Amino acid sequence: MNAFQFARIPRIHFGTGSFSNLANIIEPYGSQVVIICSRSVSAFPVFSGFLDQLNRKQQVAEVCILTGEPSPQFVDQVVDRVSGRDPSCVVAIGGGSVVDAGKAVSAMIPLGGRVKEYLEGVGSREPDGRKIPFIAVPTTAGTGSEATRNAVISEPGPSGFKKSLRHVNYVPDIAVIDPALTLTCPLDVTMSVGMDAFTQLLEAYTSTGASPLTDALAWNGLEMSVRSLPVVFTDPDNLEARSELSYAALLSGITLANAGLGVVHGFASVIGGLFPAPHGVVCGALVAPVTRENIRKLMATGEHPNALWKYSRVGGLFTPEPSSMEKQLEMLSERIEAWANDFRIPKLGKFGITRANADHIVSQAGQKTNPVKLDPDELAGILLETME
Ligand SMILES: [Fe+2]
Repeated sequence: MNAFQFARIPRIHFGTGSFSNLANIIEPYGSQVVIICSRSVSAFPVFSGFLDQLNRKQQVAEVCILTGEPSPQFVDQVVDRVSGRDPSCVVAIGGGSVVDAGKAVSAMIPLGGRVKEYLEGVGSREPDGRKIPFIAVPTTAGTGSEATRNAVISEPGPSGFKKSLRHVNYVPDIAVIDPALTLTCPLDVTMSVGMDAFTQLLEAYTSTGASPLTDALAWNGLEMSVRSLPVVFTDPDNLEARSELSYAALLSGITLANAGLGVVHGFASVIGGLFPAPHGVVCGALVAPVTRENIRKLMATGEHPNALWKYSRVGGLFTPEPSSMEKQLEMLSERIEAWANDFRIPKLGKFGITRANADHIVSQAGQKTNPVKLDPDELAGILLETME
């Protein structure tokens, strides 16, 4: 067995109705609570109830609304607004973008300076890991940010970027996961972020950085996501399926933070910085062609037979009857492609990505801990497949 490390995970409160206990969970965290949420969350009746509970205890320092993805300016502005009041903790209630914003604010309050100075590949300073307590409350089942050590910050545009503020200490202190909160998430967003969770689990499971511990968790998440994604699509109010998807998303965060990701996410961080394509859509569009190419290359080179076996095992989740390894490998790519079509994941051309951009995207994209190294022409071929 290879040596491995595993970072701590948040204290987890999981279950329908767990949001109603949030004010009690926050109580020990001081009197200056900074809340970050999306506009849609601020309109939830349960959010007003939560805010009333906190106001009665005079715990609220500031409520900040994030629209879109977190920019360096948003993070810096929130930090400037609250710093003079000695904030005691940050609570983020929303999708992956909101959780990332909250994670970055909780880190930047004691760190000082501007967040851009600390972003990987953008700034030149290393974060030292100090932060104030951070509580993540996801309202979508997708990014797994409630369990990861990085916050993705983006500056869109032609010279844009999507880069991480990262430190092992940035894993949230507490994650409150109430699957009922995901019921109001629109179906297109639900399916694309669900595809992100599935992609993260598949990439972590087949990663060269995987360990027996991440394998066990990723496998459990893969079982749950393969079972629940089609049910949520046809029956979005099915709370049991929503719960399984929320649980799978949580496991995707834990496993990606401890095993790493692959080519889909290598592409996604570049594409997300350059084009207004939501992260889940990028992953949903890329996961089938990347999986097919990884399998083809693993078979052709004979490298990492264990990764091939893992892909085949995941393919077996799509059928009740065990089949040959070759058939299960074929089934995996086919079924993921069918998911992308059934769930109406848009092609990437819709966001302005053209053949002319392919070489630049390929040159910027890292392969992370992909199970096999792909050549630039193989990467370009994958990208072209996703355009129309
Ligand atoms: Fe992702």
